[in-house]
Amino acid sequence: MALSFKPIHPAIGAEVQGLDMRKPVDAETAQALRDAWVEYKVLVLHDQPITDAQHVAFSEHFGELEVHHQDIIRDGQLPSIFKVSNVDENDRIRPPADLTMKQLLSTKMWHTDSSFRKNPAMGSILHGVEVVDKGGETCFTNMEAVYEALPADLKAKVEGRRCLHDFAYLSVISGSRKPTAEEMSKMPPIWQPMVRVHPVSGKKSLYISPIYNEKIEGMDDAEAKQLLDILYEICSEDRFVYEHKWAEDDVVMWDNRATMHRVYPYDPNTRRVMHRTTVVGDGPVMAA
Ligand code: OGA
Ligand code: MN
Repeated sequence: MALSFKPIHPAIGAEVQGLDMRKPVDAETAQALRDAWVEYKVLVLHDQPITDAQHVAFSEHFGELEVHHQDIIRDGQLPSIFKVSNVDENDRIRPPADLTMKQLLSTKMWHTDSSFRKNPAMGSILHGVEVVDKGGETCFTNMEAVYEALPADLKAKVEGRRCLHDFAYLSVISGSRKPTAEEMSKMPPIWQPMVRVHPVSGKKSLYISPIYNEKIEGMDDAEAKQLLDILYEICSEDRFVYEHKWAEDDVVMWDNRATMHRVYPYDPNTRRVMHRTTVVGDGPVMAA
């Protein structure tokens, strides 16, 4: 397979050409993809009419896959498929008051996947099964570039500091179902460094995940909120952000170790069905 990568934004992302995800991937191709994934952080593949089983088989080239802790998100047949979908198990669109819908809609805020785990996700691979015509674009921001661009006073504030990543905070801000005590015992809140080092490239990046962050070490909540709000603004600057307009059977894979993502609003009465696999991380987050 002759693989090539075409950058799609000055700061982040490349389109992969010459790959058919339905076919087996040889070792050389898998390595080229791994290298490009670290270099570009976001890889976009068009026209990939894959089955869930093909999606899983492709994803397994990059490591072990996460199984979601919530059965509403996890697929009944293939547990490593996450259903990022506004359609329920009876194939009906979820109403706005539905707690799963509320959780899903929280992805409109910047985050990096499963940062509340001791070993957060390395990468996520998302397949557009049913996409919406208007809105619903997914945006990705380059957190290495954001870190580099921080003014000295902000760098000094985040260097050597930790921020709390708490899965339960998501239910506070989105009004979704509160995790049970048993769920929380499996994923207690964790202090993560605000500046991390990428285990492959060695580059530093800002590591925050707004949907899980409320507290910063050594700051009261108001001060933490003020700092986080300033950081989110910088993360949102166009110069760092690639905005993906979905076509059916697009696949987008992102490196959670150096990016955040969020989805733009869309009409919640239109079907949006996305299937995701998540590659388990390569270890606890390394502080810079
Ligand atoms: C995700 C996510 C955004 C989207 O799958 O992790 O945040 O566009 N999805 O649905
Ligand atoms: Mn996400």
